[in-house]
Amino acid sequence: MPANPQTATAIASPNIAFIKYWGNRDQSIRLPANGSISMTLGGLESRVAVTFDPRLESDRLETHGVQFDHDPLPRISHHLDLIREMVGTDTPAHIETESNFPAGAGIASSSAVFAALTLAASRAASLPLDPPSLSRLARRGSGSACRSIFAGFVEAFAGDSDQDAFAQSFAPPEYWRIIDLIAIVDKQHKRIGSTAGHALAPTSPLQKARVADAPRRLDLCRQAITGRNFLPLATILEQDSNMMHAVMLTSNPPLFYLSPTSLALMEAISSWRASGLRACYTLDAGPNVHCITHLDDSEEVASRLRVFPGVEEVLQAPPGEAARLV
Ligand code: DP6
Repeated sequence: MPANPQTATAIASPNIAFIKYWGNRDQSIRLPANGSISMTLGGLESRVAVTFDPRLESDRLETHGVQFDHDPLPRISHHLDLIREMVGTDTPAHIETESNFPAGAGIASSSAVFAALTLAASRAASLPLDPPSLSRLARRGSGSACRSIFAGFVEAFAGDSDQDAFAQSFAPPEYWRIIDLIAIVDKQHKRIGSTAGHALAPTSPLQKARVADAPRRLDLCRQAITGRNFLPLATILEQDSNMMHAVMLTSNPPLFYLSPTSLALMEAISSWRASGLRACYTLDAGPNVHCITHLDDSEEVASRLRVFPGVEEVLQAPPGEAARLV
């Protein structure tokens, strides 16, 4: 690497999994137990700047201008090591991150940060990578980040090895006018992060059945999106989310991500759908409820969510753009 600092900045959006990735076949390289489908979340963004600087003694991380010597610096350094190995350098980096949405409460912030980090760092290191390679590498940093490389509706393949475990977009953002209304019920950082949670998945006797059934759920979800059929999408989304939370609840030790407000919202959203609104719920590893609605029904659904007891705020995210350099 040249003796002067090499810098690049990238932006990526988080994504909401419609069919969840939960558990790894190989935890060390985040080889997922099952394939997944997501929607990239427009308007929510993480910006990551990476500067490889030979004058530094070690990697430095600043998040919103505050320096971090601890978590998540080791994880970010480990990810940069993969890129440094690929180009044969050991130059330390200065990493600056900023996000415009709350971290750690079920809006997979790691997906946006690791997608943007992979893109910025590979560019700063002058390592040309095509989108599948970026996705594969982002996956090593955070499993869900492989999907945030792409726009719109995205499928991640479980693959048999590192080489074929990556994502691709199968419909662009404008393909379907649906929107994620994210009901924030708790902005606290989650107690058990996804990485520790994935490691517990095999301790649930339900995980084998969830993984074995994944191809069926992936097919139904992909067909619902490509056919723009809301009701089949709603059915499979809620079932998939409930199956993942059933695995979490039956792990050893058990993981409780749902709060009383989450449960009340899940019930309310299903009943709104029964009365004719196109709305359904899905929850990642946190208590916030992602309410997927058709754009035409979204004003009504958002106004109901805003006054729901326990809801602090409602964020709105339509299908979003791919990770990009700025
Ligand atoms: C529940 O990608 O956050 O959001 O690889 O440890 O960073 P790490 O895990 P992460 O796991 C995502 C779990 C999920 C479901 C999903 O996004 O598919």
